[in-house]
Amino acid sequence: MKKVAILTNGGDAPGLNAVIRAIVKTARTNGVECYGFIEGYKGLLNNNFVKLDLDTNASGLLHRGGTIIGTSNSTNVFNYKVVNEDGTIEYKDLSDKCIENIKNNGFECIFTLGGDGTQKSSRDFSLKGVNCIGVPKTIDNDVAHTDMTFGYNTAVSVATEAIDRLHTTAESHHRVMVLEVMGRYAGWIALESAIAGGADAALIPEIPYDINKVVDKINERRARGKEFSIVVVSEGATPINGNLVIKKKLEDGSGLDNIRLGGIGEVIANEIEELTGMVSRNTTLGYVQRGGTPSAFDRILSTKYGTKAMELALEGIFNVLVTYKDGKMGYVSLEDVVGDNKVIGAASGNTKESNIRKIPLDDDLIRVARDLGMSLGD
Ligand code: F6P
Repeated sequence: MKKVAILTNGGDAPGLNAVIRAIVKTARTNGVECYGFIEGYKGLLNNNFVKLDLDTNASGLLHRGGTIIGTSNSTNVFNYKVVNEDGTIEYKDLSDKCIENIKNNGFECIFTLGGDGTQKSSRDFSLKGVNCIGVPKTIDNDVAHTDMTFGYNTAVSVATEAIDRLHTTAESHHRVMVLEVMGRYAGWIALESAIAGGADAALIPEIPYDINKVVDKINERRARGKEFSIVVVSEGATPINGNLVIKKKLEDGSGLDNIRLGGIGEVIANEIEELTGMVSRNTTLGYVQRGGTPSAFDRILSTKYGTKAMELALEGIFNVLVTYKDGKMGYVSLEDVVGDNKVIGAASGNTKESNIRKIPLDDDLIRVARDLGMSLGD
């Protein structure tokens, strides 16, 4: 193996640069040249890449947020939006052009750093003969077959700090503070930060909520002299028999998730205010969960992911996703992660169509929350 390339695709996550650094360092140790495609699959399509050099552009990366090679969020080269000269829009499969670029440049392996959408394309390239190795990146922690994605620990830390800060202002003003966190259709960030921050309620997509149950919890606290409460809400939480709150539906026919979630925190704060008579405020944490420096844990996890990815390439093991399971690094076929063969958290209601790993209803986190008396809205 002489020449490999990395791409980072989808929403950024703390630790992306640390993974890049680990791949490049392990590559150098083994005499392999490393390149980076600019802006994910878009770079692959446009043949736009740079050499990653530890003495220049790839140095000082361990603590740096974002990704030095850029990312693109909605690039599906298998169904790519093309605007024709007459203004009409067509979706075309441009994957062969990408494969031509890979072959012409002599890249023997492509490392795809991304979440489920990125890994789906990685699997599809694998099926067309490209050597791919996926690395599971997302703050949402929702990639199948791996216990933890990199970036997640940092997001939980940021959300926990926010809860700490909301505590003091909630207590001073006798208010209910709602914190809306990210996570898409999985409640990992919400539930772990709620436990770490000592929240009184956590509403997660895995458990449809009844607002009256949350109100009961707030009133029970009030009866004990606690004149404030903290409610953490995952952006994908839904009421029983209700719908997701959507900020925007993107005009995107590429087949990727085209729904931007957001707004449920405000809805819940208003309902709580109306039902309890207590002043309630919402804070939507947003992109600070994704930006900035990775936690020490994520730096180590990212480094483990990156070194393992390059080791697999050197061993000739391709078309796999690097995994972190029961404290050990390993790998699983990309098909098992995103294809029809996947077996993921059936207990949490995942379906064949859904590739994401939600919190299983028998997970320790749910037991812990219930033991603590935290309301999960059910
Ligand atoms: O998947 C990561 C994530 O930050 C989600 O938690 C969130 O719903 C989404 O990305 C936001 O996406 P965008 O960057 O397109 O606004």
